Amino acid sequence: MIPRSLSIRALYAPTPALKLGRARWLSSSATRAAAADAKDRLPPYNPVGVARALQATPTTPAKPTIFEHEFSLADRVALVSGANRGIGLEMAMALAEAGVRAVYCLDLPKTPGEDFVKVKEYVARMEGRKGEGRLEYMSGDVTDQEAMWKLGEEIGKREGRMDVSVAAAGVLKPETPCLDYPAKQFKEASSGTKSVLAVNVNGVLFTAQAAGRQMVKFNNGGSIIMIASICGSLTIQDHPWVSYNTSKSAVLQMARSMACELGPQGIRVNTISPGYINTSMTGQFLQGRPDLLEKSSNENPMGRIGRPDELRGATVWLSSDASSFCTGSNIVISGGHHAW
Ligand SMILES: NC(=O)c1ccc[n+]([C@@H]2O[C@H](COP(=O)([O-])OP(=O)(O)OC[C@H]3O[C@@H](n4cnc5c(N)ncnc54)[C@H](O)[C@@H]3O)[C@@H](O)[C@H]2O)c1
Repeated sequence: MIPRSLSIRALYAPTPALKLGRARWLSSSATRAAAADAKDRLPPYNPVGVARALQATPTTPAKPTIFEHEFSLADRVALVSGANRGIGLEMAMALAEAGVRAVYCLDLPKTPGEDFVKVKEYVARMEGRKGEGRLEYMSGDVTDQEAMWKLGEEIGKREGRMDVSVAAAGVLKPETPCLDYPAKQFKEASSGTKSVLAVNVNGVLFTAQAAGRQMVKFNNGGSIIMIASICGSLTIQDHPWVSYNTSKSAVLQMARSMACELGPQGIRVNTISPGYINTSMTGQFLQGRPDLLEKSSNENPMGRIGRPDELRGATVWLSSDASSFCTGSNIVISGGHHAW
């Protein structure tokens, strides 16, 4: 319970005690300055909620703020990897709907696919947002650190800000028994086929770096979201996915680690761990296997696999001020798979 002396209004201003505790934790004066900045960076529309109601006089207009302020992404800029299709594309569209001015959608193909083109056109003429919320396609490989950093710089130069990054590019390779997994296949990152670890671990780091370096440059804080998986926390029965499972565990700890380093700069880092979601990735092993679809569906209490759009709410929540005190967290969206 909050002590009476620490009122809700007081919570919006850091107390001397909080400042002291923080100072002990921070080592350099530059980091201390960044931390002070981060605290001063509370959204301009505060107070909201109960504090707003308590501050109001009987003649103050009483307006809802939750969608207009906390969940709004108006005028922000985002980078989403793996956004040519599937979960990445769904998240890119959700960001545009919530107000993002430009969503830079990165993926491997030189030119975007049909789904992407159709979604881009639909967003461009969306009622109430006509001409806003551009989806900008960029071809690139998340495993190329130099290229990813350059791409981040290019977006920063064009847009003058960077607020949100979703690292959704990922791969799942054919099942391989753990004791036979060839070394080259497990770690190969420099040429030819990229390993699962190269894309799902290195690629996630390089995407977060590309956006995070711009967030630091523009000093506006930001939100980095990494798409992990329930496979980072549990092993799905009968699927020898040692590289995929390992990669997703790495992403969970990468996010916690980066959240601790970047908190003082107002940059939040979180993961979303979906369960089975109906995309091309799941299609590769479920297609033509109704027995496997039924088994996968029955592995959660909802009795079905999820749709990509069921990740929209969490994406906008984590990207926006609505989650301003959430960092280093893993949001599990699995139909309850993890609960059994
Ligand atoms: N579909 C699921 O059930 C599920 C469950 C949990 C987590 N996930 C994760 O969600 C993310 C998206 O998966 P999805 O289901 O949409 O799969 P998907 O295969 O439909 O999409 C993945 C996208 O990543 C892109 N990509 C792959 N390697 C890349 C690289 N080197 N550089 C740039 N882009 C690259 C692909 O071209 C593709 O467009 C992945 O990280 C996946 O591991 C998926």
